[in-house]
Amino acid sequence: MKPVIIDCDPGVDDAVAILLANKLPEFNILAITTVAGNVSLERTTYNALGLAEFIGLDVPVYRGAAGPMFRERVDAAEVHGNDGMAGIDLAHSRKEVEGVIAWDAIYQHAVAWKGELELIAIGPLTNLGMAFIKYPDLPKLLKRIVIMGGSTNEGNASPAAEFNIYADPEAADIVFCAGVPVHMCGLDMTMKALMTPEDIERVAALGSKEAKFFRDVVQGIIAFMKKLGVDGINMHDPAAMLYAADGSIFKAYPAGIRVETRGSITLGKTVTDLYSDAKWPKNGFAVMDVDCEAFMARVMELMKQYQVLAG
Ligand code: BDR
Ligand code: CA
Repeated sequence: MKPVIIDCDPGVDDAVAILLANKLPEFNILAITTVAGNVSLERTTYNALGLAEFIGLDVPVYRGAAGPMFRERVDAAEVHGNDGMAGIDLAHSRKEVEGVIAWDAIYQHAVAWKGELELIAIGPLTNLGMAFIKYPDLPKLLKRIVIMGGSTNEGNASPAAEFNIYADPEAADIVFCAGVPVHMCGLDMTMKALMTPEDIERVAALGSKEAKFFRDVVQGIIAFMKKLGVDGINMHDPAAMLYAADGSIFKAYPAGIRVETRGSITLGKTVTDLYSDAKWPKNGFAVMDVDCEAFMARVMELMKQYQVLAG
C-alpha cells in the first residue's frame, strides 16, 4: 500500500474523491490536510472533519493555509455553494483538528516514511509550497506528487488557467520546481471524466448512506453545469485520486511544466512542454486521457463497498 496524504479543499468533488480514496486498496491514508480554496479554510476543515467521520476514516486532519502565499484569496463558492458542500451539513463530534500546521505535518510524515510518501493535492497548492519553502530537504523525502490542477490548454478559472493553480500560482510553481515528480491531472483529462445524471443515479441506487450522499452533494454542480450546456459533472478530484491509486486506465506523458505567475491574462497558466526540443527539464507528467468506461466501473466498484444498513 502507498502511504499517502490527501491535501484538499472540500469542496464537492473533493468530497467524492475522499469517499473513493477511503475504499482504495492501494492506499494507506496517513492524514488529510486542508487548505482554503473552493471555500474558506474554516469551512474546508469543518467539511473534512465531517466527511472523515461520516465515512469512518479515522485519520488525523491538519489545518493549513487560510489563503495563497502572496495574493488575495479567490474562491469557487458559486460552483460548490457557500459552505462548499451543497448545503449538506455533515455535523461531527470531533471539534478540533490536530495542533500541528499542515506543512509541518507533511514534513513529519515524510521524515517518518523515508522517501515513500506520496502527496495527493486536490486543492490550491499553498500547503505544499509552504512545506517546500520551510523544509529544503523535503524533496528527497517524497516519492511523488499527484495533483488535480492545471491544463496543457484551456482553463476554467480563466481562459488560460485552471482553478487550483490560478488560486495560488506562486505556490504551484514552487511545487513544479521542487525536484519531486509532479503528475498533473489537469483539465485535459479530468474534463473527460464526466458523470451524467444517470451515472449518478446508478451510484445512488447502491443504497448506502454514502452512495446517497454522493448523489446529493453533486446536485448543485449538475444544475450549475446545465446552465453552461453540460449534462453532468466533471469528476476532477476523483479522477486525480483514481490516477494516484492506479494509472493503468490513464494516459500520461513526460512533460516540463512551469506556472505563469506574472501574466495579466495568462496568470496561473501551466505552460507545458510536451513536444519541443526538450530544453526544459521534464519535471513530471501531463495526464492527458482516461478510459471513461473503466473510470465509471472503478467508481461503482468502490462505492459498492459501502454497506447498506438494515432498516
Ligand atoms: C478544481 O477546482 C475545484 O473547484 C475542484 O474541487 C477541483 O479541485 C477543478 O478546477
Ligand atoms: Ca478541490
